[in-house]
Amino acid sequence: MNFTSINDISSPVQLLELAKQIKLKPFDYREFGQNKTLGLLFFNPSLRTRLSTQKAANNLGMDVIVMNVGQDGWQLEMDEGVVMNGSKQEHIKDAVAVLSQYCDIIGVRTFASLNDRKADYEELVLKQFLKYTHVPIISLESATLHPLQSLADWLTIEEHKVAHKPKVVLTWAPHVKPLPQAVANSFVEWMKLAEVDLTITNPIGFDLAPQFSKDVKVEHNQDMALAQADFVYAKNWSSYQDYGTIGGEMTDWQITPEKMSLTNNAKFMHCLPVRRNVVVSDEVIDGQNSLVYEQANNRTYAAQAVLLNLLQL
Ligand code: CP
Repeated sequence: MNFTSINDISSPVQLLELAKQIKLKPFDYREFGQNKTLGLLFFNPSLRTRLSTQKAANNLGMDVIVMNVGQDGWQLEMDEGVVMNGSKQEHIKDAVAVLSQYCDIIGVRTFASLNDRKADYEELVLKQFLKYTHVPIISLESATLHPLQSLADWLTIEEHKVAHKPKVVLTWAPHVKPLPQAVANSFVEWMKLAEVDLTITNPIGFDLAPQFSKDVKVEHNQDMALAQADFVYAKNWSSYQDYGTIGGEMTDWQITPEKMSLTNNAKFMHCLPVRRNVVVSDEVIDGQNSLVYEQANNRTYAAQAVLLNLLQL
């Protein structure tokens, strides 16, 4: 069993309940991780995912080894059957076979190229890990999904919701450089299972891939979408249609106190890292309705629930 998307989980609701339970007593499951090693591999930078997953594993009694593959490792060849007479020194097949001997679970963060939609959406790098591993793989964010983030976000919404079925608005926000659609795709995928009324709002040309946005309300007028929202989740993503482009500046999509005043005194969410006063104004992110640090804190319990599930198999 692996954890690369919500589809790897037989009961997401049970996983959420486990995360809640672990949050109450984080050190109750230490025997499951004893003498087990978690390997964490990063092809690009991370603060929250790296440290929260490491903390989660430590809470379970696991040893953790971390490697910034993109920076410290040999350059990996991903294609099959190639003559390796170029700059890449090691084949993914060999690297993953070796890692599988050192680790009981491997976490891997890959990243979208943002210039080859087909390759990104086929998750070519993650698929090579899945093909060659002998141990479970956890996605620490892939080219198109970030399931650990989504589980933490769901837990945060559960903890702060007042209405039985709150209105949750995922809003596109401006940015200065192209970002993947992974957090947004994943959030939508998990929210479809939650007891929420979900609306996505984004400028025309920034609709998420149809497999994620189908069956969800998409409103291209941000003000209309924000009306009566209980939760506002802001996130930038580059275009799926004109793949990887950021379009114009569209600074009027920034989440400001004026935008928040359209809502039902909504809680503000963002996965972090965030560009302040580009995506969201200081007043909103530093305001009393901001949940961004709660989301980051819940990353530990989400990761711990996922690890515990895999350890118990
Ligand atoms: N939210 C998130 O994944 O943060 P990092 O990139 O710092 O891990």
